[in-house]
Amino acid sequence: MGPHQDDQPWDPDAYDGSHAFVYEYGESLLDRLDPRPDDRILDIGCGTGHLTNEIAASGATVVGIDQSEAMIEQARSSNPTSDSSSSRCSFVRADATDFSADEPFDAVFSNAALHWITDQDGVLESARDALRPGGRFVAELGGANNVQLIVDALETELRSRGYDNEHPWCFPSIGEYAPRLESHGFEVRMARLFDRPTTLEDGAGGLANWIGMFGEEFFESVPDDERDEIIGAVEDELRPALFRDGSWTADYRRLRFVAVAVDD
Ligand code: BEZ
Repeated sequence: MGPHQDDQPWDPDAYDGSHAFVYEYGESLLDRLDPRPDDRILDIGCGTGHLTNEIAASGATVVGIDQSEAMIEQARSSNPTSDSSSSRCSFVRADATDFSADEPFDAVFSNAALHWITDQDGVLESARDALRPGGRFVAELGGANNVQLIVDALETELRSRGYDNEHPWCFPSIGEYAPRLESHGFEVRMARLFDRPTTLEDGAGGLANWIGMFGEEFFESVPDDERDEIIGAVEDELRPALFRDGSWTADYRRLRFVAVAVDD
């Protein structure tokens, strides 16, 4: 499953409003990318295109891809000149696990998207194939034990009611991901796993909104009224650890890496 799939109820406006942290916290990853004016850069899982536009503002030429047509439409409207022949920025609906580039890229970038992708070998192969030898892959995704308190509370509550739904995400450790990158023709230059507690917007409703936006798969085959009860029970369970001064803080952990495409 790719990021922002159309079979998920992605709402680009909710994503841009209450979930602005997804791209705001991504900013310093751009420093790592260090885009240069003559770079061609592929942004995998670009969502509504905020970081793609930031990259283009540096003078680089950027192609943002996302699995969701709704996200791509929003990204195009966020940058009305995108896709004009003179624009440095374009947005394309594409499957990141099966993407082939017309021309090689100097860099592949991805923020908060890779953890949605079930076929990790597919996306790493696409990224490697898209790069020229020596090109860089600069990315950040949820790392090992990302949002573990939230996942544990949801899964425990679901189990107690007879459901065995599990979270859909891939949150790897450095030990798991570095060899995987190497096996796809990358040399890992930097990998870092770190805590990044993240305050959720919308005050007391923040956790329920987050679960509603991102956690749809937990509730497959769960009736709507029971779903609300489950979220209420999860809020009660997590309030002592994650709710303070009127806001929820999610226990985010990031895996950030820089890898370079080695010669074939
Ligand atoms: C994340 O960015 O870590 C994340 C966002 C939504 C769902 C799961 C993880």
